[in-house]
Amino acid sequence: AGSEHHHGHSGGERASANSAPMAEVAALTGDLTAPADRKFELTARQSKIALASGARIDAWTYNGEVAPVLRVRQGEMVEVKLVNEDVEAGVTIHWHGYNVPNAMDGVPGMTQNVVKPGQSFTYKFRAEQAGSYWFHSHQQASEQVSKGLFGALIVDPAQETEKADEEVILINHRWKTDKGRVNAFGTEDGERRKKVEPGTRMRLRVINTDKLSRKYLLQGADYRIADIDGVPIEEPGLIADRTAFRIGGGGRYDVVFTMPDRPVLFKLGDDRDADDPTVVFYPDIPPANPTFQADSGLFDPSDYGKGVANELTTAEKFDREFEMILGNKMGFYNGKFTMLWTINGEVYPHVPTLVVQEGDKVKTTFANKSLAEHPMHLHGHHMTVLKKNGERVKTPWQTDTLNVLPGESYEVAFVADNPGMWMDHCHNLDHAATGMILHLMYD
Ligand code: C2O
Ligand code: CU
Repeated sequence: AGSEHHHGHSGGERASANSAPMAEVAALTGDLTAPADRKFELTARQSKIALASGARIDAWTYNGEVAPVLRVRQGEMVEVKLVNEDVEAGVTIHWHGYNVPNAMDGVPGMTQNVVKPGQSFTYKFRAEQAGSYWFHSHQQASEQVSKGLFGALIVDPAQETEKADEEVILINHRWKTDKGRVNAFGTEDGERRKKVEPGTRMRLRVINTDKLSRKYLLQGADYRIADIDGVPIEEPGLIADRTAFRIGGGGRYDVVFTMPDRPVLFKLGDDRDADDPTVVFYPDIPPANPTFQADSGLFDPSDYGKGVANELTTAEKFDREFEMILGNKMGFYNGKFTMLWTINGEVYPHVPTLVVQEGDKVKTTFANKSLAEHPMHLHGHHMTVLKKNGERVKTPWQTDTLNVLPGESYEVAFVADNPGMWMDHCHNLDHAATGMILHLMYD
């Protein structure tokens, strides 16, 4: 507040100095006066979980479940009471990719206090965006998310146009079990089978909670990618059977296909990962020995569908431009000599804060100069992808978690339309824990 810049959020002059603070409080919390349409309660606790294979996990969960699903309708006022039973370090809920008011974003020490054992915190927000989202604790997130403090947030559109006959939520998670590390869709490791009538319109909501990107393979039917990170693709074309797609850590793809009169196989990973979970959809009798063939190519979102057209894709100039060089170096962190993950050579909290004003069109360039991939996640805003490796993408798309591979660079842009203090960080949560975080702040 207090600057001469005004960017016409409501088309008029900036509010006068003495009325501004009121407006800002409302912007940070949202209008919470309306009664809740949907209420949920999530209790964080230590739990023992068994995978389908029998492997056991010492997990931390919400409600003792792996990936509880909160399902609401777009437009509803949602209230979620978080209770912490016995997770010592305290917990929160961050609504990943969901552009809630700042005070509901679930970042401990920034938007709220951590919820200690015996305490609770109530989140309330209007479900403005439809689509596939997820939520997770943001306290010591690298450990807490791996141990199971996450779930799915599915928001059905107010007007249902493309409703599937059947849908399956597939959450890829890498568990630390008594048998080592195991990948599973929820608690289903190994193979899972499901009978589906031919002609059924299927929707798979694939959510990657892992630190690393993974490839997925659908075989037996041509398919479409209907949404990326909860945002629908306009005119999504048919993708050939056996084309693999890659989802970065924290990302979501909605995959749709029509069930043919033969089996459709879906799997995590490429051929090297023999033990990765698979799902077999079959029309009549389950196939005895479903076999996967090699991928026949990799899906590229930068050349798919009609592409987003918005004020960012047509913008000739931006109000702010930032560059983030993603790198690494050895150094001390919390008293230990270790690998640090850096933004512009610095580690959090020494990475300079991005400062914007409400209404700004902001362009960010990510350049990955390291040998690891970085799924860059911006809280509170969706980014529109404009350029990859210096060239305009054919079809700009929207994302909240953009996986940047070694050597790649991307230009993305967003409108600063959600005031507050936000995080922008790598969603390989080990990288975030050792430096790769910065803050976005509204002036
Ligand atoms: Cu899903 Cu700050 O994270
Ligand atoms: Cu990273």
